[in-house]
Amino acid sequence: MSALTNFYNRFAFFYPLVDIFLKPQKKKFFQEINQLPHGKLLEIGVGNGSHFHLYQKHQITGIEISSAMLNIAKKHAAGNIELFQMNGEELAFEADSFDYVVLSHVIAVAQHPEKLILQCHRVLKTGGKLLILNHFTPNNWLKYVDRSFNLCTGLFQLKSLFYINNIKAIERFKPKKEIALKPCAYFKILMLVKS
Ligand SMILES: C[S@@+](CC[C@H](N)C(=O)[O-])C[C@H]1O[C@@H](n2cnc3c(N)ncnc32)[C@H](O)[C@@H]1O
Repeated sequence: MSALTNFYNRFAFFYPLVDIFLKPQKKKFFQEINQLPHGKLLEIGVGNGSHFHLYQKHQITGIEISSAMLNIAKKHAAGNIELFQMNGEELAFEADSFDYVVLSHVIAVAQHPEKLILQCHRVLKTGGKLLILNHFTPNNWLKYVDRSFNLCTGLFQLKSLFYINNIKAIERFKPKKEIALKPCAYFKILMLVKS
């Protein structure tokens, strides 16, 4: 079992405390998602699934690497959500099978973000959209905070210093929309298209 899976298995019980800070961003994120036409949506790294009720109309498949997180997510999942324990870096789905892929606070946590984005690209249909909610290290005073926390990456299984352009595979997508969230534009929503 990887250190990441181990961490989230142990951390699952406490995750709702972190989630308190993520809730306002997720509200905006799901408003954006719910404006998109109906289609098949894959969420990678669903966590405890406490946000599942925010999905309004898509056909949802969710995957999660941590069994403890997944077990909690199952309790939040209504009948229209299919859940699997799976690694997003080795997806078992066929190529071109989803209209949307969602990564909510996962890309800076994944052990191999390059592999993760390649898999997102593979399973998306042409014209399909990759939706990312994450923190992005800005070019202001917050970069010093990120730098300090980055020293504890191993402890929290999180890259606090995070630049999306360091992931080569992201170039396979065309940027469609970027929403900087208040305060400080530290958190952003990105919508990218597989062309
Ligand atoms: C910070 S939590 C975010 C959970 C949820 N998406 C949210 O927004 O609250 C990151 C989650 O991604 C999962 N995860 C990380 N890497 C993964 C991977 N390669 N495949 C599947 N899940 C992964 C972790 O186990 C954890 O539950």
